Amino acid sequence: MNRVRSVIRGCGSYLPNRILTNEELTKSLDTSDEWIVSRTGIRRRHIAAEGELTSDLATRAAERALLSAGLPAAAVDLIVVATTTPDDTFPATATRVQAKLGVTHGSAFDVQAVCSGFIFALAVADNFIKAGQSETVLVIGAETYSRILDWTDRDTCVLFGDGAGALVLGAERDAEGADDAGRRGILSTHLHSDGRYRDILFVDGGPSSTQTVGHLRMTGREVFRHAVTNLASVAEEALAANALPLAAVDVFVPHQANVRIVDSVARRLGLPPSRVVSTVDRHANTSAASIPLALGTAIDEGRIRPGHLVLMEAIGGGLSWGACLARW
Ligand code: UT7
Repeated sequence: MNRVRSVIRGCGSYLPNRILTNEELTKSLDTSDEWIVSRTGIRRRHIAAEGELTSDLATRAAERALLSAGLPAAAVDLIVVATTTPDDTFPATATRVQAKLGVTHGSAFDVQAVCSGFIFALAVADNFIKAGQSETVLVIGAETYSRILDWTDRDTCVLFGDGAGALVLGAERDAEGADDAGRRGILSTHLHSDGRYRDILFVDGGPSSTQTVGHLRMTGREVFRHAVTNLASVAEEALAANALPLAAVDVFVPHQANVRIVDSVARRLGLPPSRVVSTVDRHANTSAASIPLALGTAIDEGRIRPGHLVLMEAIGGGLSWGACLARW
């Protein structure tokens, strides 16, 4: 009997062309570049063009991930899209991506866990592979948050951006009893939710409640507090589950919501800035796309290389949070 594990075969990302700077936002809002940079670290964000849908962003990222994996779209037998901004209420955005890629076999569905969606989608994909149900999986985080922002609310609209990122996971088989040490692939995933905190981060609309799309609402300071505590504890949980010390982590890729959250979590854990990836200045908070976009940036910069131990983690609406430890 062989054991199956998921290895990362490729990574791709896509950002819409249009860049919106903090300076531009000051023309319509009572805000300043100084406030946004000092409170969040954000300098600019990308915004999808009119008619450019979440599935378009996702498909571009998926094509690039497949190219980097050296695989044709036909190799894919499962597509999982993490998104809170689907093209339509249904069908799943993943099925639109499947059609755009020209794939007609296997299955495709969405996962909705807001900003932690990519970690949840990775966990789903990893478990499908481990169960022997899938061989090659596209895991995509894609969002067009610009469509659910209240552009008159300075508390929220300055914080988010649009984008997409994708990983290709493949099944690799080890002989029973093979040594695990140093093996590539996903080592573990850890997921949590606590629905009592729904009201601190939500969208005030939906097909069942208001029959409208609604806008994002957030009590930022409360979310900030939960973010620092839960992200630090889920990182420790992931390391303990693998009996690995913090010193073994080569690259830490947290959800990119606020540089102050990233820095606080890294400080709590005792990780030096040189091992922390931060892209919030360029991308802002792209929700489920933030981790794969940050992975893409880190790979392009040569900061993530084969063999590296990578710790990814995120928190978002729900509240939901989670972590994934992987050897590249
Ligand atoms: O991805 C999901 C997870 N989301 C997050 O992790 C977001 C977590 N929260 C945060 O990142 C931060 O809480 C924010 C960036 C949202 C806010 O930073 P803060 O340091 O917690 O500020 P605050 O909410 O306590 O607001 C401070 C002040 C307020 O004015 P008063 O009441 O002190 O007079 C706000 O009205 O800043 C004001 N303010 C702004 N001023 C200029 C809020 N937004 C703006 C703005 N420009 N855009």
